[in-house]
Amino acid sequence: MLHSIFFCFWCLAGVFGDDAVKSVSVMEGDSVTLNSDTELQADDVIQWRFGSENSPIATINRGTGIISTHDGADGRFRDRLELDHQTGSLTITNTRTTDSGLYQIRAKIIYRFSVAVYARLPVPVISNNSSSSSSSSSSCSLVCSVVNVSHVTLSWYKGNSLLSNISVSDLSISLSLPLEIECLDDSYSCVVAYSFSNLTTHLNNTELCQPCSECIHCCGSTEAVIRLALSALVGVATVAVLVYDIRSRKEEQQMRSNSHAD
Ligand SMILES: *[C@@H]1O[C@H](CO)[C@@H](O)[C@H](O)[C@H]1NC(C)=O
Ligand SMILES: *[C@@H]1O[C@H](CO)[C@@H](O)[C@H](O)[C@H]1NC(C)=O
Ligand SMILES: *[C@@H]1O[C@H](CO)[C@@H](O)[C@H](O)[C@H]1NC(C)=O
Repeated sequence: MLHSIFFCFWCLAGVFGDDAVKSVSVMEGDSVTLNSDTELQADDVIQWRFGSENSPIATINRGTGIISTHDGADGRFRDRLELDHQTGSLTITNTRTTDSGLYQIRAKIIYRFSVAVYARLPVPVISNNSSSSSSSSSSCSLVCSVVNVSHVTLSWYKGNSLLSNISVSDLSISLSLPLEIECLDDSYSCVVAYSFSNLTTHLNNTELCQPCSECIHCCGSTEAVIRLALSALVGVATVAVLVYDIRSRKEEQQMRSNSHAD
């Protein structure tokens, strides 16, 4: 009695527990493969089901040799399902956001996949932030924007280091992120990213910013500090040499006058 209760508890946990659901994310238009993680045996029967109505979309019966895919209740999967005959893994090609949902493979055990199909990422657009108040003549104010996005992070990078970022969760909105730089070198980029995929725009538009190589008057603040420190160092060294020179001359004169006195 106790045994069967325990058995049932585990079997329910196995079938309905959260750990039995694997999350898969994919971008609209890309393919996604749901791995059965098995090698089918001679007389195995497996079936894939989709959605809240649990409608069958693919079946393999190794005993009878029957392999079939269905278009789904509304025909949404027409020509877009591929079934691996050896493993039973299911590939959905040319995914659409409406393919999002729960997929279930019924074999000896039941696995579930929570598939999320995200809209394609828009290319980040870098433009002039003319509304910026802090734009002096030597620096440039930029803004990177993406329109109608959700679940993304928009970031400015210099090389591999993150300068700033902004995130949006489930709301579909437009995002923009300002950046203030002295001059243009080819290391700046703006990246829009899902957790599993991203798109990058490199800052290379010389109409927005003066290239650093042509930039004589607008040296960066670090460079200015280094120059200041160097000139200070040279100044101190000059004074030290002068003082030393004067002292040794004085000593020489003293020695001379001493030797005259002898
Ligand atoms: C332009 O720059 C200002 C100041 O840096 C900032 O507050 C503003 O949000 C920027 N505009 C856009 C569209 O990001
Ligand atoms: C962009 O995607 C690549 C490859 O998937 C990854 O290596 C990189 O870390 C991602 N970058 C960001 C900012 O998410
Ligand atoms: C910037 O780079 C892109 C490709 O990364 C290229 O298509 C575009 O022509 C470049 N623009 C300039 C101004 O160099």
